[in-house]
This record gives sequence, C-alpha cells and structure tokens, in this order.
Amino acid sequence: MKDILEMKNIQKSFPGVRALKGVDFKVKVGEIHSLMGENGAGKSTLIKILTGVYQKDEGTIFFDGKEVTIKNTIDAQNMGISTVYQELNMIPYLTVAENIFLGRYPRKNNVIDWKKMNQNAQDLLDEMKLNIRADIELNRYGTAAQQMVSIVRAISLNCKLIVLDEPTSSLDTDEVRMLFRVIRDLQKKNIAIIFISHRLDEVYEISDRITILKDGAYEGTYLVSELGQAELITKMVGREVEKKERIERLHSNSSDDYVIELKDILSKPKLRNISLHVKKGEIVGLAGLLGAGRTETAQVIFGYRMADSGTIKMHSVDLSLKSPRDGVKHKMAFCTENRREEGIIPNMSVRDNILLSSLRNISSHGFLNQKKGDEIVKQYLERFRIKTPSPYQKIKNLSGGNQQKVILARWLATQPDFIIFDEPTRGIDVGAKRDVENLIAEVADMGLAVLFISSEMSEIARNCDRVYVLKDGQVVGELSNQEIKQEIITNAIAEGE
Ligand SMILES: Nc1ncnc2c1ncn2[C@@H]1O[C@H](COP(=O)(O)OP(=O)(O)OP(=O)(O)O)[C@@H](O)[C@H]1O
Ligand SMILES: [Mg+2]
Repeated sequence: MKDILEMKNIQKSFPGVRALKGVDFKVKVGEIHSLMGENGAGKSTLIKILTGVYQKDEGTIFFDGKEVTIKNTIDAQNMGISTVYQELNMIPYLTVAENIFLGRYPRKNNVIDWKKMNQNAQDLLDEMKLNIRADIELNRYGTAAQQMVSIVRAISLNCKLIVLDEPTSSLDTDEVRMLFRVIRDLQKKNIAIIFISHRLDEVYEISDRITILKDGAYEGTYLVSELGQAELITKMVGREVEKKERIERLHSNSSDDYVIELKDILSKPKLRNISLHVKKGEIVGLAGLLGAGRTETAQVIFGYRMADSGTIKMHSVDLSLKSPRDGVKHKMAFCTENRREEGIIPNMSVRDNILLSSLRNISSHGFLNQKKGDEIVKQYLERFRIKTPSPYQKIKNLSGGNQQKVILARWLATQPDFIIFDEPTRGIDVGAKRDVENLIAEVADMGLAVLFISSEMSEIARNCDRVYVLKDGQVVGELSNQEIKQEIITNAIAEGE
C-alpha cells in the first residue's frame, strides 16, 4: 500500500520549548497507525500541524501523493483530513443531522431541505450501525455518541485520514468496543486512522503500526506484531517501568479511625443507597461502570451535590456540606476527572494553578509567603516530572497529561485529611502513571484517607486496599485487599443486582 501521508523533518518551537525537533511520520492508505510517546513528547503538536491548527516552522508534508500547504483547519478538511478532538468541535444544541452537514445543508429552490438532510444523515448513521437518531439534538447524547457523529461527519466529507487524539479517555468498555468496530469499518473503506491513547491494550488491539516520539524527536516506526509492550515502554520512557500487580504499601492499615462514613445516602436521580467508609491511611476504590454513580458519590461527599437522605460523617461528626467550599474547609480535596471544565484555570500560570487551593496554608497575617509557595511548586514539579519551561508558563500551553499532573499537585498541596481521586491517571503516560500511583500510596502511608475512582479494573486492583462495587447507584459488593483481583471485580459488576 502506498502512503497517504508523509510528514518530513517537521520542526516546531514555542517560547522556551522545542516541541518537535525534525519529526518524520508516514501513514499508509487504510492503515491504523498509533502515535505514542510520553506526556509532552509532541504528539498533539504534530497532529495540530497536520490539521492546520498550528503552523510548522520547518519541514514538508505530502498528502495523497502531492506536497501540500495546510494553512488552517478548513484546508485540512478540504484535503480529506478530519479530526475527532477530545473537546469536540460541534454544536451541542443543533441536531445530529445539522452537525453532520454543518455549513453544507442541502437546499431545494434555495431553501434548506430539512427532510433530505435528516434522511441522508440517518442513512449514514444506519450504515455504520449506530443507534443514533439524526433529528435529535446532539447534546441529548453522551460523549461516545457525539464522537461517532463527528466520525460520521468526517465520512460524509469523503475524508481519507481521520485523526483520533485520545478518543477513548472518557468512554466505558462497551463504548470503546463500539468505537473500535467503527474504526475497523473505516479501514475497510480505505480510510487511514491516526490513533492516540495512553492505554497500551487499546493500542495493541487496534493498530497495525506504531510510531514513537521521544522528547519531540522521531524514535521509530514499528509493526505492532514486532514490538513487545515492555520494549515499547522502554523506547517511550527511556527507562524500564516495572510491571506491577500491586503498588507496595508501608503500612497495612490497622487503624480503625473512620475519616469518612456514609450511611444510606440517597441523592436523586442517581444514588439510591450508598453506605461506605474510608479509614485513616486507607485507599478505598470505587469500581463500577460509567454511570454506576461513582462520581456522584464523590460529589455528595465533597458538597457538589446534596443528599436527599442519609448521613455523612467526618471523624465521627455529622457533616452537611452545602458547597465544595465547605468540603475544602473540612480538609477534603477532590481531584476531578473533568480537567477542562472544573480543573485548570487556563490562563493562569502552572505555579498559580498548583497553589490555587492552598493559599491559606502558605499565608500568614494575610500575606502570601512566596518562598514557601516556591518550595511547594518546585517539589511537585520534580515529584511528578511536570514538563514545563518554567513555573510561570500558562497552564493551557502544557500537554494534556502534564495539566493533569498539575491538578493532582494542587490538591495534594492542600494537605487534606481526605482526598478523592476521580480517574487520576486519565491521559497520563505509562511512566508517569507509576509516579502518580507511588505518590498516592505514599500519602496514604502518611495517614491520608483516599477514595480512588477508576474505570480501569487493573488500576483499582493495583492501588486499593479495599473496594466498593457500585451499580445503578447502589453498593452491590465490597472486596477486601486479598479479594481484589481484576476478574473478581468484573464479576461483581456483572452479577450484582
Ligand atoms: N501552544 C503552546 N504554547 C507553548 N508550548 C506548547 C504549546 N502547545 C504545546 N506546547 C509544548 O509542546 C510540548 C509538546 O506538547 P504536546 O501537547 O504535543 O504533547 P503530547 O505528546 O500531546 O502530550 P500528552 O500525552 O500529555 O497529551 C510540551 O512541552 C508542551 O508544553
Ligand atoms: Mg496530547
């Protein structure tokens, strides 16, 4: 098969950062090609150059046999290059059909032919065997369906290459299955796919070849069948990352001190009956499928959401939190899964984003102790290996995974008694994931009570001392340390009614 895309010697610098140092990247017609590399390696930057979001400093791009100049996203689209962004570039209050044909509504006698548009859109959706209705507002559907609509739009534009930059990070297992089925259908139509994900299983399942970037440089391109996972990790991270079933802990949690205790919590519409507790020094997992009520449970504890009945106690004292502010006052911390909406303040520096929630801890008599602030920031930049040219860089300029690390740092810096991690390693590369996990174990060893939410069963098994399994807003199972094995959790979800 010939190449649909060839990028040669691509270079791109930002103030203080050489993001791409002469990258070569070739993709064949109809191939599924994964782009891998650590957080900040340059993957998204390369993709943004390809799709016309950024301009390259140096290098050449050949697409479909011709040298091309891509000045903006419209150029890319007209050439046949489409992207499905994590932040979807669609309009939520328009219908699915309107989104698919955005800017290209079919007309009859100069009036928009709504009937035809809906029919055409529905045909495309049906052809992909998607259970989505063309005449319904897009925002009535979840992320996965919205991504599908975005892919259908790409197909309707006759694209030859679709880029998926971390499309799976907010999908559950079934939704990933659906996405992969659609990706394989695209391949049958000879559409090439560039796929980016930090989940190795997914990469190995779906791709034909892998290209690795390391620190903005091209490391190599490999057939998936010829590159072992351990080898891939070593090439990406530059060191070996031990494969672990469990993260070691210093203390086995003998403490009987309940930091948080929920009894019979009901919170409409999602939570029907939640009772659980987290002890001092314990990492307690919440397992369950997307929509099981894990995040809602965390939100009730932290004060984002009110309970209709039931009790929440902290250190045996009744709590009734009215807002997240109250949560912070009670020395709670909540690392949200929703980095873009609730997490970062894009135009503030990395430093200020880290210190944002601990200003009280570092001021005395109303004055900020800058030196203390500097120390905290320095400590976390090192501990998490956060990649930034300086603490004063605006956080929006950091790579996705590095932004996630900043949020973790922010909450740990508040020195809480109780901390909730909701999907803490989402978007974080394999090497850094281990750093994050070790740090969570360390803070628990120091006496913090930790609630750990993750949709990756292996991650729950690796990190948690005890696990509650949630389904449809209820606790349907509780597993102790010894019972936590991936299979067992999976079964508990399947069987618990
Ligand atoms: N607009 C920008 N301004 C300044 N620096 C930027 C900008 N965009 C990216 N960078 C920097 O370029 C480097 C590469 O970032 P990029 O987003 O391409 O990484 P990535 O491989 O996609 O990482 P991740 O896996 O975390 O998403 C990083 O050091 C990042 O901070
Ligand atoms: Mg990225």
